[in-house]
Amino acid sequence: MSNVNKSLVVYYSASGNTKTAASKIGQIIQADVVAIQPATPYPEAYADLAAVGKKEIDDQILPNLAPLPFNLKAYQTIYVGFPIWWDQPPMLVARFLQEKDLVDQQLVVFATSYSSTIEQSLQMVKTWTENSEIKILGGFLANSNQEIMTGLAALKK
Ligand SMILES: Cc1cc2nc3c(=O)[nH]c(=O)nc-3n(C[C@H](O)[C@H](O)[C@H](O)COP(=O)(O)O)c2cc1C
Repeated sequence: MSNVNKSLVVYYSASGNTKTAASKIGQIIQADVVAIQPATPYPEAYADLAAVGKKEIDDQILPNLAPLPFNLKAYQTIYVGFPIWWDQPPMLVARFLQEKDLVDQQLVVFATSYSSTIEQSLQMVKTWTENSEIKILGGFLANSNQEIMTGLAALKK
């Protein structure tokens, strides 16, 4: 069981902040780091991106993901990171959490934001995973190295 303690950092990032955080976390915990994307890419311009993201939340649309280039079953702990949009994760995170290979892993949640705290987003991830065996070890904002270090140190063992 060589994979038993393996971790994977999975993130979505529109403008790069969460990508930076994911890379940093991957370095610290020595884990593979991979991006998830919607199958139909989100628009780049802020106003267009905001319109699509808001509509997904309002209408509870879970966008399809581009194929995942990794096997989630091979990892025990998945770190899932995203930008906070309207005080919650983008809906493609909900889609990711429905992946059939994500069954009884441990989950760590991290996010970047202007000002929102992690609480509402963490609660949303809990709701999205409540019918699974997924165990959430904790969640933290990852806007700075300091927040990342503090957040990692506070995780349940
Ligand atoms: C559509 C949209 C909605 C956002 N909503 C919030 C929000 O509710 N609260 C907040 O603090 N920041 C919000 N932000 C800011 C982002 O969370 C923040 O810039 C984040 O670091 C972006 O990460 P990224 O560069 O990985 O995409 C929003 C940004 C966008 C594009």
